Amino acid sequence: MADDIVIAPSLVIDKILIIDDDPFVRDIILKCLQAEGYVCTTAPSAEAALELLSQEDFSLIISDIMMPGKSGIELLSIVRERYPDTAVIMVTAVDDRATAVKALHLGAYGYVIKPFDLNEIVISVVNALERRRLSLTSKEYEVRLEHEVKERTEAIRHREEEICLRLTAACEYRDIETGTHNRRIGLYAFMIADHLGWGSQIMDEIRIAACMHDIGKIGVPDNILLKTSSLTDEEFEIIKTHTTIGAKILSGSEISLLQMAHDIALSHHEKWDGTGYPEGRAGEAIPPPARIVSILDVYDALVHKRVYRPAIPEDIALKMMEKDKGTHFDPHIFDAFIAVLPKIRQIRIQFRDEE
Ligand SMILES: [Fe+2]
Ligand SMILES: [Fe+2]
Repeated sequence: MADDIVIAPSLVIDKILIIDDDPFVRDIILKCLQAEGYVCTTAPSAEAALELLSQEDFSLIISDIMMPGKSGIELLSIVRERYPDTAVIMVTAVDDRATAVKALHLGAYGYVIKPFDLNEIVISVVNALERRRLSLTSKEYEVRLEHEVKERTEAIRHREEEICLRLTAACEYRDIETGTHNRRIGLYAFMIADHLGWGSQIMDEIRIAACMHDIGKIGVPDNILLKTSSLTDEEFEIIKTHTTIGAKILSGSEISLLQMAHDIALSHHEKWDGTGYPEGRAGEAIPPPARIVSILDVYDALVHKRVYRPAIPEDIALKMMEKDKGTHFDPHIFDAFIAVLPKIRQIRIQFRDEE
């Protein structure tokens, strides 16, 4: 709850720092502003002012321009960089208008020309503090809005993820493949996408979409899907339809996550040389997420036991796969897969198949 407490800017006491090498000018501004109820501190030089600024926060600085040591303009540049929320008013000599304009370009809130009328100082201070207050309020609003948008986007992503995983679970309910296999494929794919430099949104999408690669198996008859002996050619043709069935389930969506899931479901059995199924697409014509999943699906199937064979040791599995680099697998993505293998092994440890 403590994070929600926001102090209204008007309730914050504005502290003002007055900088001038002339003690008379310092004093006259100090007394004038104190009489108006402001809390003020003075400094005789830019160096002394920077020391004070490093110790406490000031809402406003009123600084002379011509001073021994660092000039007011130099001080202004430093303050804009280090303390962007501090407003600055410059005080300048009559013949110094060009410098005053430069100060405004550097981000000063205003300037007062010597000799000044004290009312002018008070009006400039009120204006500068009001402008600062408005700027802080709008900055705070922007930050809050950005935070809210981020939170809502995350909530939507969580919802999408849950719906997709439950859809996948419906399929796993009758499939010989396990839920942990699907989960692992998603996580592995995330690692490869990261290695390939994909953006965080698309990485998140492939993590979820890849889990659904075999969702079309829900439409394959049990006697074929659950068969533990080898399949006839005819039966294998039916198994192949899980790609087009999956694509049909996921087609026509405006949600980019489901569009990617559609591409993966349809093309994860395509091969780089065009000898895969269902469309015989080759090379770049196969969507990249599907090219990623095709490598990971083979890897994960080989290194885990299946009802019809024991698990194959990883070194042997990798040798078998290496032979298919450039024919079955996209060679560039295969290299990325090899590069992230240590992370993939971690995921395997985390998400083991149930015995
Ligand atoms: Fe498949
Ligand atoms: Fe699979």
